[in-house]
Amino acid sequence: MIKEQIEALRKELEQHNYNYYVLSQPTISDIEFDTKLKQLEELERQYPQYADPLSPTQRVGNDISEGFEQVEHLYPMLSLGNTYSEGEVMDFCQRVARGLNGEKFELVCELKFDGTSISLTYENGLLIRAVTRGDGEKGDDVTANVKTIRSIPLKLQGSDYPEKFEIRGEILMPWAVFDELNSEREQQEEPLFANPRNAASGTLKLQNSAQVAKRKLDAYFYYLLGKDIPGDNHYDNLQKARSWGFKVSDAMRVCNSIEELTQYINYWDTERKNLPVATDGIVIKVNSLSQQRNLGFTAKSPRWAIAYKFQAEKAVTRLNTVSYQVGRTGAVTPVANLDPVQLSGTTVRRASLHNADIIAALDLHIGDMVYVEKGGEIIPKITGVDLDARVLLGDKVDFIKQCPECKATLVRYEGESAHYCPNENACPPQIKGKIEHFVSRRAMNIDGLGEETINLLYDNKLILNIADIYELKACDIARLERLGDKSARNIIAGINASKNVPFERVLFALGIRFVGETIAKKLAFAFRNIDEIAAASFEKLISTNEIGGRIAQSIINYFADSANKTMVDNLKNYGLQFSISDEQIAVQSTQLSGLTIVISGTFTLHSRDEYKAIIEQHGGKNTGSVSAKTSFILAGENMGPEKLRKAESLGVKVVSENEFLNLLTDN
Ligand code: IVH
Repeated sequence: MIKEQIEALRKELEQHNYNYYVLSQPTISDIEFDTKLKQLEELERQYPQYADPLSPTQRVGNDISEGFEQVEHLYPMLSLGNTYSEGEVMDFCQRVARGLNGEKFELVCELKFDGTSISLTYENGLLIRAVTRGDGEKGDDVTANVKTIRSIPLKLQGSDYPEKFEIRGEILMPWAVFDELNSEREQQEEPLFANPRNAASGTLKLQNSAQVAKRKLDAYFYYLLGKDIPGDNHYDNLQKARSWGFKVSDAMRVCNSIEELTQYINYWDTERKNLPVATDGIVIKVNSLSQQRNLGFTAKSPRWAIAYKFQAEKAVTRLNTVSYQVGRTGAVTPVANLDPVQLSGTTVRRASLHNADIIAALDLHIGDMVYVEKGGEIIPKITGVDLDARVLLGDKVDFIKQCPECKATLVRYEGESAHYCPNENACPPQIKGKIEHFVSRRAMNIDGLGEETINLLYDNKLILNIADIYELKACDIARLERLGDKSARNIIAGINASKNVPFERVLFALGIRFVGETIAKKLAFAFRNIDEIAAASFEKLISTNEIGGRIAQSIINYFADSANKTMVDNLKNYGLQFSISDEQIAVQSTQLSGLTIVISGTFTLHSRDEYKAIIEQHGGKNTGSVSAKTSFILAGENMGPEKLRKAESLGVKVVSENEFLNLLTDN
């Protein structure tokens, strides 16, 4: 039976997810896993009637962007009181003792994970909803995104879980993932995430769960809530939660004395540096739930728990100079050059100064002794000036007015904290940066043209803009230092091959501000060719899925510049792809020809964009609003009430995903 086969595969794959992501003990190879997942995907595609939104295949996410619905928390999500010294922890213990009228009590110590908090609701062992903290009273429903986190069980193990409960925990981006993401962003000149916490919360708020899936988030759980949770103490409840498949930290301890508590704090203050995820302290909780109830809550936090925050590591050193770096987008980053100093095991020589406002707020002077910190942040930052150590007042650090590279007057756009060099097409680092981006792997993928070679070519005036790449001759390259005939031939071959790179990547390669890979793809498929994009009005652009005002304006500005227009024309003449190819829009059948179809709601089997493509590939037309001309509505879950009413009044048929897909396979 197909149904049983599908279910067995789902169970098996979830077990492997658990072994890998929760236990860190995989029992099969990645290839075996992928093969089984593909098998399941294929079966689900063939038998859409057995679709399941909690299937392991759904963990890859989709690109449906519907905004987030606000959901009220059943139990408010409170914060914890913070302490910074052992003395304050003692005060907490005394308050608890008083609150319990001298009754004996146990404390549980655990790590304070530094991510973004989440509340999950399970019913009958199934993940129903995932909601962010929001303002504590209500948060965003981010279920689709959370489902992509492989260490979060979609279906629970065992059978002794309550019928309905909530579990709260922290969503984290592991250090390794964070480092990789930031170095990718650096290459693409996208703003870096300051720390894994920002990266995790930013990721969780992405409108595209397929993107979230790629970011490899993790989650630890530390709080079980509900009417009928199993035991009367926090520690045992969390062990139970672990047995249902949740990732619960091994670092939890029951402490019966102040000494044990102090030991725990001291141990983890150093040992936490070896953990794969960020932590910023210890949480101390009263173990007994009845004692927790007796202690109750203040308006903001429980009286039965407190956080002890680790000190961020600090060092003091001298500020020697401030230099300014200009990136591909023209953004100017101030960097402090310091006397080398040891901080958390590394030698720090430079620290980011972020922007002009931060420099002004610090009232920095050259020669100042400054505090450097490396809290959760990967890039050290300057957090203050030791005014007592200021003997001679050096020059005040004033943000530069002119570009250090091309001397153009810097500008600051409204609402942005950065300064920019506006001289886009003549400022050397901007041009070189644009060329590096153009040839990069995910753009035109021209092998052999690295940063160094581009510098050489630029300095020898062989390429002064992107289009010049296509005028390069092997003999010009071979003459340059460090480059011989062989590498010259390779580069030329790479350049020729890039003429077949599909339009959406060419569009990304142009480096239009805010037009990243995903947006380039959307634009390419929505407009089909560069001329349509260049001619599109602001309104037309923003009516495209995922294109907002900021992106639209940037596209308009790009094409308003005649230098860019000329360059695109040149690139066209060199034979680059500036439209979607025939294969990409190939009509697969005419089954829907003459039909006008409206898409509404959220889908589980394909994304909205995929349905749009399917309709067009079968000769149909997709429109946005329901009218008498609408042939039918392809409706997912939560179809807009307005549309439903209109459909009913016009007598337009509403077709489900499965019905729609069957329609196409039946003929
Ligand atoms: S218990 C009623 N335990 O810290 C309080 N919170 O400042 C329930 N956090 O919002 C929270 N690790 O996001 C608890 N082991 C842990 C934690 C933890 C991190 C976060 C959580 C909470 C914030 C409070």
